[in-house]
Formats: sequence, C-alpha cells, structure tokens
Amino acid sequence: MNISPETAATLNIQLQGRSAHEVMEHVLRTFGKRVAISSSLSLEDQVLTDMAVKIDPKVRVFTLDTGRLFPETYQLIDKTAMHYGISIDTYFPRHEDVERMVHDEGINLFYNSIESRHRCCQVRKLEPLARAFSGLDAWICGLRRQQSVTRQHMHTVEWDAQHGIIKVNPLIGWSEEEVWTYIREHHVPYNRLHDQGYPSIGCQPCTRPVKPGDDIRSGRWWWESPEHRECGLHRSSK
Ligand code: ADX
Ligand code: SF4
Repeated sequence: MNISPETAATLNIQLQGRSAHEVMEHVLRTFGKRVAISSSLSLEDQVLTDMAVKIDPKVRVFTLDTGRLFPETYQLIDKTAMHYGISIDTYFPRHEDVERMVHDEGINLFYNSIESRHRCCQVRKLEPLARAFSGLDAWICGLRRQQSVTRQHMHTVEWDAQHGIIKVNPLIGWSEEEVWTYIREHHVPYNRLHDQGYPSIGCQPCTRPVKPGDDIRSGRWWWESPEHRECGLHRSSK
C-alpha cells in the first residue's frame, strides 16, 4: 500500500467514534502483515496484545530490549509469549553504538544531561525501532491522552512524520481505570511492578515508583521537567 499523511488522515476520520476493538480489527484487516504492535509490555500494550491475538493469532508483536529493562519485564516477555502462544520479536541495540556511547560518557550517562539521555534513548530504542519498521506500513502503540501533557493532542490514527509510517493508538481515549478493568476481566498477564507503586514502567535506571495520586508518568525520567519526559519514540506532531 502507498502510505502518506493523507492515508492516515482518511483512516482517522473513518475510525472516528469506533471502539478500540473495532479499530484493531480494521487495522489488522487493512494492513495484514504490514502492521505490528510495538509493545513495552505495559498495561496498555498487554491489552492491545490480548485484543489482537484474539482477532489474528498470527499478529506481529515486537519489543525493544534496551538492555536496561527490569527483571520483572523480562519475565513478562516470556510469560506473555507463552500465554498467547506467540513469539515476541525482540530488537536489541547495535553493540558498536552501545560500546562507543559507554566509552564516551559512561554506562549511566542519562543522569548527566538531557542530551546524554537522548543519546542513550537514540542508541537503545530509536535505532532498533527503525529496524523494526522494516516492511511495515503501520505500527500500533499503547498511547493514551491522559498519560501526559505531551500526549493530549494525539489521535487514534496519525501520520508519524518522524518515521514516515502510520501510527495507530487504539486506546488513545481510554482512562487508566478502563485499562485495569480490561486487564482484570480478561485475565491478562501484567507486570507485578504495577502492584508496587510503578504505574508507568520503562528502563530500570530511568523509572522509579510514585506516591498514590501522583502523576502516572512522574516516576519516568523524574529528574527532568514534564515536557521533556519522552524518549523520542513519540514526538508529538503538534
Ligand atoms: S516512552 O516513550 O515514554 O518510553 P511509554 O512507556 O509511555 O513510552 O510507552 C508508550 C508506547 O510506546 C507503548 O505503549 C509502546 O507502544 C511503545 N513503547 C515504549 N517502549 C517500548 C519498547 N521498549 N518496546 C516497544 N514499544 C515500546
Ligand atoms: Fe537509556 Fe534511560 Fe532511555 Fe532506557 S530510558 S534508553 S536507560 S536513557
């Protein structure tokens, strides 16, 4: 399929007001093998995987293993693959890039400056993501507007200009409560860290627990201000 910003805009209008399940069905049917779920094993991504596998057991799911994930996340990758009988394609950073970066700035460079943090996310997430996109017209993500100030203008279907691909966010309008209800009703496996004060989970050195009632992403890159708390996977087009 020839994809363009117009394809994304048309699809977004077409899917206006549809449920997450309907969006997922439509997108899997439209793009077939040229769409994949990008999963960090978050609650939202687990909902998407559950929905998608029930529509198409051969759906493609990939994850970016930065090498700095929590042990609980690694366990969940295996558990999820077993539970659904799928294989989760894992993309790793290029070892030469990691070696150069660590040589230049140390293993925990992200605490030094925003530039160093972005370099780490570039090497450990963005470069592998570009490889994961090979052969894809669209990627499916677990973004929700309520997650952050940086996500409030996002749509169900968007043109991802940064990567030249269609991005689908079936859960964009969901609340945290709706996500939990789905997880419980469908017995979806989830990261046990969510029961220990971690509402949003990324890499281990860049994630800490939050106090009840605190902003759900306040434990991510907590030493930076809220408008900087994106790793570059999801730069807003606004
Ligand atoms: S992040 O940009 O701050 O790291 P967040 O953790 O909120 O993102 O996740 C938002 C969405 O980005 C997830 O639902 C998932 O689709 C995608 N994503 C984030 N991290 C990864 C990862 N390590 N592997 C695959 N997809 C990811
Ligand atoms: Fe590196 Fe932290 Fe980004 Fe993970 S979240 S890639 S450890 S800077």
